[in-house]
Amino acid sequence: MSTAIIGVGNIGGTIARHLVAGGESVVVAARDESQAKALADELGPRARAASVEEAITGADAVVLALWLDNMREVIPQQARLLDGKVVVDPSNPIGFDPDGQIIRTLPDDQSAGSIVSALLPAGAHYVKAFGTLSADSLAAGAHREPRLAVLFYATDDNAAGTAAERLIRAAGFDPVKAGGVADAGRIEGPGGDLQEFALGELVDLEKARAAVADVKQPA
Ligand SMILES: NC(=O)c1ccc[n+]([C@@H]2O[C@H](COP(=O)([O-])OP(=O)(O)OC[C@H]3O[C@@H](n4cnc5c(N)ncnc54)[C@H](OP(=O)(O)O)[C@@H]3O)[C@@H](O)[C@H]2O)c1
Repeated sequence: MSTAIIGVGNIGGTIARHLVAGGESVVVAARDESQAKALADELGPRARAASVEEAITGADAVVLALWLDNMREVIPQQARLLDGKVVVDPSNPIGFDPDGQIIRTLPDDQSAGSIVSALLPAGAHYVKAFGTLSADSLAAGAHREPRLAVLFYATDDNAAGTAAERLIRAAGFDPVKAGGVADAGRIEGPGGDLQEFALGELVDLEKARAAVADVKQPA
C-alpha cells in the first residue's frame, strides 16, 4: 500500500517519519515542493516527493495533513483524483485568538470530520485518524513500551477502517475505533472526550476501549 501525505508540517512530517520507520512507502507533497523534497531526502528510499496531483494519483491512501481551511480549497480542487481513495483526515476545529489562546472554530455540535467527509466525492473512503494527539505526543508516543499507546479513528467505511488500522499499526500505535463519522467529534479537539487533553494521557488498549464505551451524556 502506498500512502500520499499532503502537507509536510507538524502532523504530516511526523506521520511520514513513523510510516517510513514502519516499513511503509510514502509520497509527500506540499504547496512548496522544496519542503516535500527536503523531507523525502531525509527519509530515504521509501519516500519520494511529488506534486499534490501526482502524489494522490499514485496512492491507495491519502493523508490530508492540512488545516481545515486549506482542506476546503484542496479537496474541491482534487475531488476527481480523490474519488476511490482512502482519505485520512487528522484535522481539528482549532484556531487561536489574538492572545494566542486556543479557540474552537466550529459550533459545538459540528465536527471537522462532518465537514471534510461532506466535501469528498461519494467514492472516497473517509476516515478520521491521526489527529487525537498533539504533534509532539504523536512523535514521541510511537512504539511505547511495555504497552503501545492508542490512536483512535472514526469511520463509516470498512475499507477505510482497515487501511487506518494498518497505518496506525505501522506508525507504532494500537488502533481503536471510536465509532462512525457521527462520532468524529469525540476524537477532535478542543472538546472531544477521547482527545489527548481530555483523557490526560496517552492511553493503552484497555483504557481506550473503556473510554470509548463511556459515552458522556450531555448535561
Ligand atoms: N499540530 C498539532 O499538534 C496537531 C495535532 C492534531 C491534529 N492536527 C491537525 O493536523 C492538521 C495539520 O496541522 P499541522 O500542525 O501539521 O499544520 P502545519 O504544521 O501548519 O502544516 C500544514 C501543512 O499544510 C501545507 N499546505 C497548506 N496548504 C496546502 C496546499 N494547498 N497544498 C499542499 N500543502 C498545503 C502547509 O504548507 P505551507 O507551509 O507551504 O503553507 C504545511 O506544510 C490540522 O488540521 C490540525 O488541526 C494538528
